[in-house]
Amino acid sequence: MRVDPGFHFWTLLLLFGNILMEQVSGQSSNSNSDDLVCLQSFKAGVVDSSNSLSTWSGPDFPCNTTGITCSSGRVYDLDFSKRGFTGSISPNLSYCGNLNSLDLSSNQISGNIPPELGQLRNLATLKLSENDLDGSIPEEISNCTFLNSIDLHNNQLSGQIPQSLALLTRLVTFDVSNNQLSGPIPSGLANSSNGSPRFNASSFEGNNLYGYPLPPAKSHNLPVLAIVGIGLGSGLLSLCLSFTAVCIWLRVTEQRLAAEEGKISQLVPEY
Ligand SMILES: *[C@@H]1O[C@H](CO)[C@@H](O)[C@H](O)[C@H]1NC(C)=O
Ligand SMILES: *[C@@H]1O[C@H](CO)[C@@H](O)[C@H](O)[C@H]1NC(C)=O
Ligand SMILES: *[C@@H]1O[C@H](CO)[C@@H](O)[C@H](O)[C@H]1NC(C)=O
Ligand SMILES: *[C@@H]1O[C@H](CO)[C@@H](O)[C@H](O)[C@H]1NC(C)=O
Ligand SMILES: *[C@@H]1O[C@H](CO)[C@@H](O)[C@H](O)[C@H]1NC(C)=O
Repeated sequence: MRVDPGFHFWTLLLLFGNILMEQVSGQSSNSNSDDLVCLQSFKAGVVDSSNSLSTWSGPDFPCNTTGITCSSGRVYDLDFSKRGFTGSISPNLSYCGNLNSLDLSSNQISGNIPPELGQLRNLATLKLSENDLDGSIPEEISNCTFLNSIDLHNNQLSGQIPQSLALLTRLVTFDVSNNQLSGPIPSGLANSSNGSPRFNASSFEGNNLYGYPLPPAKSHNLPVLAIVGIGLGSGLLSLCLSFTAVCIWLRVTEQRLAAEEGKISQLVPEY
């Protein structure tokens, strides 16, 4: 079998070119390109006024830099608690496909929780508490089947708690207290299959939520009583009014008749 000498030449040139490119770009050959998209987008999304992320460069990036922990060369843990970040959470965090833990707690990050986080199939810890996040809790999060901790307390989240979150069987920590959530508490989050409470009231308080383990909806039973009360009250009142009217009419008619009778008796002498 004859091998074209040109083939060897082009293969070698390609290989050499690749090595050269890696040297120039300063990125270690084993850093994952999806992880790099994830981290660069994350950095672009937040406003880092204290320059925590200025160390995000050089040959060690990403695995040995501020806030990033790797496992088997992939980004595994992102911890940026209390960094003074503002800005928003990039939906491209979904590119960190091996991410196990995301902690952005105690910053001033605003905007919504990207539904794309639902693509992080290995995510076990989601900690976004004490920020300015608004919008609803994306139901896509329930696709992260390994989640054992969701902490979203002290934000501005609104809407209902997605029913599907109850499907996260590994969940041992769940805290959505002090947001603007409303509606019923999904029964699957409140009660476990054996009937004992799964998460207690402290996980839900400081919202407009109702149902076990919080008190039932007040705004449902009270109006019914109020409507019955108003109905009965106005019925009785109109009955009294019409009765009085009839009484007065009878009295007036009676007096007029009596008066006329008197006139007649004056005109016609009695025999
Ligand atoms: C997310 O990544 C894609 C692909 O690399 C890129 O085109 C896009 O600009 C990124 N979006 C954000 C918000 O960073
Ligand atoms: C991270 O730093 C440690 C020690 O400083 C070193 O042993 C390790 O190889 C570094 N890891 C990477 C991915 O650069
Ligand atoms: C969850 O993942 C499944 C398949 O992996 C997909 O069909 C579904 O749309 C996802 N659900 C949500 C709410 O993102
Ligand atoms: C949860 O369990 C308690 C006590 O076991 C029960 O009183 C309550 O009705 C249950 N709530 C729901 C929503 O299933
Ligand atoms: C509610 O649960 C949390 C942890 O799950 C626990 O620390 C707390 O003491 C419980 N509160 C009550 C009133 O049971």
